[in-house]
Amino acid sequence: MEFKAIIDAKARHDAGCAVVGVYEDGELGIAARKIDAQLNGAIGKLRGDGDFSAKLGEVLFLPAPAGAAATRVLLIGLGNRSSFGRKQYRKALQSAVQSLAKTGAADAIVYLALEQVADLDVQYRARIVAEVFCAQLYRIPDLKTSAKPKAPRLSSVGVAVADARAAKAADLGLRIGAALGSGLALSRDLANLPPNVCTPTYLGNRAQQLAREFPSIKTKVLDKNGIKALKMGAFLAVTQGSDQPPRLITCEYRGAKKDAAPICLVGKGITFDSGGISLKDPPAMDEMKFDMSGAAAVLGALRAIAELKLPLNLVVIIATCENMPSGGAVKPADIVTTMSGQTVEILNTDAEGRLILCDAITYSRRFKPAAVIDVATLTGACIVALGNHFSGLMSNDEALAAELASAGIRADDRAWRLPIGEEYVDQLKSNFADIANVGGREGGACTAASFLSKFAKDLSWAHLDVAGTAWLGGAQKGSTGRPVPLLVDFLINRTRAT
Ligand code: BES
Ligand code: MN
Ligand code: ZN
Repeated sequence: MEFKAIIDAKARHDAGCAVVGVYEDGELGIAARKIDAQLNGAIGKLRGDGDFSAKLGEVLFLPAPAGAAATRVLLIGLGNRSSFGRKQYRKALQSAVQSLAKTGAADAIVYLALEQVADLDVQYRARIVAEVFCAQLYRIPDLKTSAKPKAPRLSSVGVAVADARAAKAADLGLRIGAALGSGLALSRDLANLPPNVCTPTYLGNRAQQLAREFPSIKTKVLDKNGIKALKMGAFLAVTQGSDQPPRLITCEYRGAKKDAAPICLVGKGITFDSGGISLKDPPAMDEMKFDMSGAAAVLGALRAIAELKLPLNLVVIIATCENMPSGGAVKPADIVTTMSGQTVEILNTDAEGRLILCDAITYSRRFKPAAVIDVATLTGACIVALGNHFSGLMSNDEALAAELASAGIRADDRAWRLPIGEEYVDQLKSNFADIANVGGREGGACTAASFLSKFAKDLSWAHLDVAGTAWLGGAQKGSTGRPVPLLVDFLINRTRAT
């Protein structure tokens, strides 16, 4: 999909469709007013006749006469002007794409970014257009053999803006939105694939493919022997029950000077979490194919950053394996030595995410990172705490936590801070090892993060628990790609601040 800003006054009058907004309470949007004039007041009349009430997301196609701005006009209801904010803006755009995709239009001009949307500047308004178009046109890589609906013809989208200055800002926004779109698509594809396809080996191959696509990325994939050589005893314990070989994936993106300290993104890549010997209950166990969503998200963010050629250094580290029961599987009460040297008593083999992550966090130290952010579908307890709306955010660095939280707000991919600390570490006491891998039901998301904090001492570190946000269950089962938008916004903002 191609996106470009178009200065409204200069808009060429030959688009397949003009997308214009109409408010519910009387007013036409800025563009609708002009087009209404070209259509001899037809839009105003439709509303007067009660054929189009302009409720948020309502759509109506009008054929346009020769000489009008486009072959078709798509009216989008914007709801009440006073309540038109970022959420409503996204909703209006979503309805627009859904309707457009059903037409034969190959190109469209969207006039909605001309509207005022809460506190969003034109760069963000344009960025959201590209992001929503990409997200709505995303299709799950399914293995259905039934006839597939035809792919929409839409391939080019113009975004009308007021003047040349706005066009410059909008073009940047569109570039960001499109890069985010392809990062999200990569992340969602990986997470949606079945676990017999998306194995640790497969993830390693896809990371190597990224390096072939972008010369700015170098990928290194270690196998079990490489992981052994690093003495990652906790990671090895999780993988030992599975027939699928594990991988430790490192992708280095260089966009700044060699000596500039990188940001490290660490992803949990459990390609299937059966629970191991502490086997999970059958209901919804299939959803544990999504337990590599953290890995998928850090790869998606990396892709977006490489596409944008952001001037910073980024290291993506992924620990990936299956968590399976078998005669060789790790058992409750086994004690392992982590790469950091600390010993862990594994009381519950289903608390495996923290075991692979603690070694990956220790490994990140060799890159002398400016900050380390791990992303993981870590605990059911985080879903109990925050539902499916906010990701959990824990950190040992106030400034980093604030940066991530505000990135989430800007990107409409919010995270909510939860506590970590000695109180929670106390719950992880073991009579036999330095620390246990579980600490009881209470504050489960906080004990998991506090476990990780023991391996992040002296690092500027944050943890995103995306158990509730990375995918949807039920009828809409599938990956959301979260927190790719938060991560990309955070990284873009880092390049502005420094
Ligand atoms: N991958 C799960 C967390 C999870 C569960 C994410 C449900 C999304 C939905 C993780 O590995 C896990 O099993 N955590 C346990 C930890 C417990 C044993 C302390 C959990 O949350 O039940
Ligand atoms: Mn588990
Ligand atoms: Zn898990």
